[in-house]
Amino acid sequence: MKIKEIQDEILRLKKENDICILAHSYQAHEILEIADFTGDSYALSKQAASVANKTVIMCGVRFMAETVKMLSPEKKVILSCPEAGCPMAEQMDKEMIESVKKMYDGYTVVAYINTTAELKTICDVCVTSSSAVKIVKAIENPNILFIPDCNLGAYVAGQIPEKNIKLLQGGCPVHAAVTLTEAEKAKALHPDAKLLVHPECRPAVVELADYAGSTSGIMEYAKNSDKKEFIIGTENSIAEHLQYECPEKNFYPLSKQLICPNMKATTLVDVLKCVRGEGGEEILMSDETISQARKCIDKMIELGG
Ligand code: 13P
Ligand code: SF4
Repeated sequence: MKIKEIQDEILRLKKENDICILAHSYQAHEILEIADFTGDSYALSKQAASVANKTVIMCGVRFMAETVKMLSPEKKVILSCPEAGCPMAEQMDKEMIESVKKMYDGYTVVAYINTTAELKTICDVCVTSSSAVKIVKAIENPNILFIPDCNLGAYVAGQIPEKNIKLLQGGCPVHAAVTLTEAEKAKALHPDAKLLVHPECRPAVVELADYAGSTSGIMEYAKNSDKKEFIIGTENSIAEHLQYECPEKNFYPLSKQLICPNMKATTLVDVLKCVRGEGGEEILMSDETISQARKCIDKMIELGG
């Protein structure tokens, strides 16, 4: 089957079977084309709360499908590629954070949304990269324990110096691998380009950037800018999507290594199998996990607007 034929079949079946397809912006172009909604983690979680269809297919990684399930527990939620996890989300478990919390009594525990549902059950509020600064600012408590990404946490701490923000050693292995030397080389190679990076990158890389923000933030900045060249410091799919959307501009990946194998694991055929009712993995969670974990997602939506 040709790509277009697979896409047409997916579109036909999802309509026939009352399915909504959500896709994170790191997904491949041909998947974004058949999705009902695409965006960064924050936009997807807001969308998940208002989906009307009885089945939702998440093209992204496991914690994103779990978020959809928590926000729409009555729906059938399917992760299109069951192997697609997020190494950062799996770095810290409930037992570990329970013991860390004992050392930080009275702190508000802020969890990056890239965490498991189980871990969320013992956290106070979630943030995404696009909402983190706004939400941490809105928390009354000056003492914050920020998990698991120390790079995003350091970025937030830099924006809100009045808060006492404690960090742990966790993060995204894909973004954290980019070095300052690579960023300096990219800037030297493209002196007229703006450097746009995700705050999951190391603080030294973020400091060198002209803009730091979520995947959607980076895309919006590049689209709205009157500049013509951009170095993109996030998963390389974003440079690719931008190049399609703005052919008159030039987008250079900050590093050829900025590829998330988990985000790249989903194929169009995986999605086809899901709409046929054959593939993917249905996300199942106990009512207790859903009600405990969703509290910090609800809090994020309440504080994030
Ligand atoms: P955002 O969608 O918040 O930009 O996060 C990027 C990411 O790494 C998702 O896994
Ligand atoms: Fe996880 Fe990083 Fe991949 Fe996002 S890019 S899914 S944070 S490993």
